[in-house]
Amino acid sequence: MRVLGIESSCDETAAAVYDVSAGLLSSVVSSQDSVHGAYGGVVPELASREHLKSIVPVVGKALSDASTGRDAIDGIAVTAGPGLIGSLLVGLCFAKSLAFAWGKPLYGADHLEAHVRAVFLESDVPFPYIALLVSGGHTSLFRVEGWGEMNFLGGTRDDAAGEAFDKAAKMMGLPYPGGVAIDRAGREGDAARFHFPRAWLSRGSADFSFSGLKTALRTFLVSPSGAAARMEDVAASFQEAVADVLVGKAIEAAERERVPRLVLAGGVSANSRLRELAKLRGAAAGITTFLPSKALCTDNAAMVALLGERRLSAGVFSGPELTAYAASRFTH
Ligand code: KG4
Ligand code: ZN
Repeated sequence: MRVLGIESSCDETAAAVYDVSAGLLSSVVSSQDSVHGAYGGVVPELASREHLKSIVPVVGKALSDASTGRDAIDGIAVTAGPGLIGSLLVGLCFAKSLAFAWGKPLYGADHLEAHVRAVFLESDVPFPYIALLVSGGHTSLFRVEGWGEMNFLGGTRDDAAGEAFDKAAKMMGLPYPGGVAIDRAGREGDAARFHFPRAWLSRGSADFSFSGLKTALRTFLVSPSGAAARMEDVAASFQEAVADVLVGKAIEAAERERVPRLVLAGGVSANSRLRELAKLRGAAAGITTFLPSKALCTDNAAMVALLGERRLSAGVFSGPELTAYAASRFTH
């Protein structure tokens, strides 16, 4: 089965073609960073307008890169949510129309589930595994049992890790997107120079909280020592505080669930310190850590096409009533 995947949940317009025998045939991502950079964050109205401009060329390029025409496509998968509703609707309406016009089955993919499955484009991870999903909108831990089953173990009570990175970068005067800028600056800094607070919450809790860390950073930056600090050291110390909690809680969850496999997913899992720490502490705890390549961590349609192929080939598809949703379906 060959599936065309389409993703437009936030500020990337993406399309990909995945074939169950030949693997990933194409993956095109059109980023809107230059549009939102001036505002220091994604402006929803601008994002949907950009998707409108990009959707036709991006899908066209994914098909031509895969040397695939309409006849060779067996199904279409599209991100239905969660995400920015205006952005989602562009990809969703396009995919629905294409499925109707071409007479192909359609699958509405959950963006979080697609992230958590992206790893299968590169490794065959045995079930069950623990997934740490860290993105701009979500920070969650899941126990993943199989293709149809994902159990939510915990999530953020306030900011997502990516949101914390982006807001911290803005406070530090670093460019958008903030996570990448902090990662880059942090490589030149001393992570032990400043100690920022870690919110462990109650013992054994798989929940996260990053709002206190954000406030601590703001308070520090206006203090005399903050004003005199090297930005590289602040970036490295801030990143260390985020990575420490993410990895600590993910490993705790794996030990509690007695599952010796951890998969990282979502844009923040492209962070070099987080990846390093997950590998190191995972190995020390006897846990195998799977790290998808960075292009599969951030938003892409390859993960949507892969998930769509698995669901469509299992006979699971969406009807014309498929609609976009903004909020996560995975909560306590
Ligand atoms: O998964 P993603 O591309 O989109 C969402 O679904 O949200 O994640 C985007 C987030 C942004 O907050 C961005 O700053 C963060 O991922 N990010 C990073 C890195 N690369 C992207 N955060 C830390 N270090 C990075 N290298
Ligand atoms: Zn995402």
